[in-house]
Amino acid sequence: MKEKVLIIEDDINTLHGLGEILEDENFNISKAKNAKQALKEIENGDFDVVLMDYLLPDRDGLDLSREVLKDYPEIKIIMMTAFGTVKNAVNAMKMGIYDYLTKPINLDELLIILRRAIQEQRLIKENDNLKSKLNNKYRFENIIGVSGKMQQVFQKVTKVANSDATVLIRGESGTGKELIARAIHFQSKQKGQPLVEINCASIPENLLESELFGHEKGAFTGAYKMKKGKFEIADKGTLFLDEIGELPLALQAKLLRVLQEHRFTRVGGVDNIEVNVRLIAATNADLEQKMADGLFREDLYYRLNVIPVIIPPLRERLEDIGPLTDHFINKFSEKEGRAIRGINEEARKILLAYEWPGNVRELENAVENSVVMCDGDCITADDLPAYLKGTRITGSSTLLDIVMQENDLSYRDKLEACEREIIRQALIETENNKTRAAKNLGFTLRTLRNKVKKYSL
Ligand SMILES: Nc1ncnc2c1ncn2[C@@H]1O[C@H](COP(=O)(O)OP(=O)(O)OP(=O)(O)O)[C@@H](O)[C@H]1O
Ligand SMILES: [Mg+2]
Repeated sequence: MKEKVLIIEDDINTLHGLGEILEDENFNISKAKNAKQALKEIENGDFDVVLMDYLLPDRDGLDLSREVLKDYPEIKIIMMTAFGTVKNAVNAMKMGIYDYLTKPINLDELLIILRRAIQEQRLIKENDNLKSKLNNKYRFENIIGVSGKMQQVFQKVTKVANSDATVLIRGESGTGKELIARAIHFQSKQKGQPLVEINCASIPENLLESELFGHEKGAFTGAYKMKKGKFEIADKGTLFLDEIGELPLALQAKLLRVLQEHRFTRVGGVDNIEVNVRLIAATNADLEQKMADGLFREDLYYRLNVIPVIIPPLRERLEDIGPLTDHFINKFSEKEGRAIRGINEEARKILLAYEWPGNVRELENAVENSVVMCDGDCITADDLPAYLKGTRITGSSTLLDIVMQENDLSYRDKLEACEREIIRQALIETENNKTRAAKNLGFTLRTLRNKVKKYSL
């Protein structure tokens, strides 16, 4: 279902321009030119967000907001103010207005605020008691994701958190699997209970069994006393098995038994120990391939993969790069005791153009580096690690050279590789505005959408 947004603006060009852009972004848009029309629309429509100009011909925006919020407190109002009226806008926020934007409107900022408003709106709608409303506000506090793909992940997390079902989180390295696992725990009913994490890849195979299931005194050389395993420590809470793809086959069998019977024995022990543990597993491995190679048990895979949560790589969600960059600048600027307020356009574009094979972790490291390197109060292209700049193919002639040298590729593959790159550049240049990108490319919006999907852009 599309989210409903009402735009109230007396300048016809702005009204239609914004309307068109937001429609392209998949919102259901209604428009009003003044307060009177707006109230009529609000009475008849079930709006999620109202985007309102501060100065309306027949009424003051604050006054109108007060009336709207009195009858419809759940509506999120975003105020658009001219430069210079910011102070009033701050007062407006105290009054219950969700956020404000200064004109001329920055579209990226608008979309971020709008999506955030809608995300909160949705959470509020889903929960009717006050307590969960309060919790909701903070539950994705440090997880940034304005892209449609991440919004879907968040929705899924919210849904699965309240069930006891096993979750399998998948995604390339550095996409945020661990972060999402924690978010699930802290939103679940187990949140007051322990969250126990174990990384199956970082513990030597001969110790892993005792780490997971514990051991009795004397079970093996060096076992001087009984030790509880992670499963026991996590009782009533959540056990997060990271890098599950690296679990040795013998332990896969034991884990499967625990999942089926909810009990196990410590290493060297005979007593059955019963536990009630919610399991979250994560991996960046190709489990299907591992199953085909006989390295991962199929029955365990089905037990774990009750609810799959897939985190897309950063290169498939360009919209998140900007907000993540800002988030990390704040984080490291604070940590380093610096007062860096942002990043300039040129540097931003370089970050957008890079492929990020190491995903969010790589971006985080790059920003940390840049904050350290930066002399002024704004990160510039010079402050960015050099490897982000030189290696990318930006000019189409260079790309063509490279593609033409690839003897393994058919002409069709070469054509598609170039097409993908050109579309990607067009999206970057228009800051992911599909209408403008389609126009620049000479495609219809529909064709562009199909190609974006085809090339996972
Ligand atoms: N959406 C996000 N918002 C803010 N920070 C993020 C986000 N995603 C990832 N990070 C940060 O990026 C880093 C890597 O995330 P995380 O450790 O969760 O990735 P991972 O998928 O578990 O990686 P790996 O497969 O290498 O274990 C962390 O510092 C994390 O805080
Ligand atoms: Mg991890």
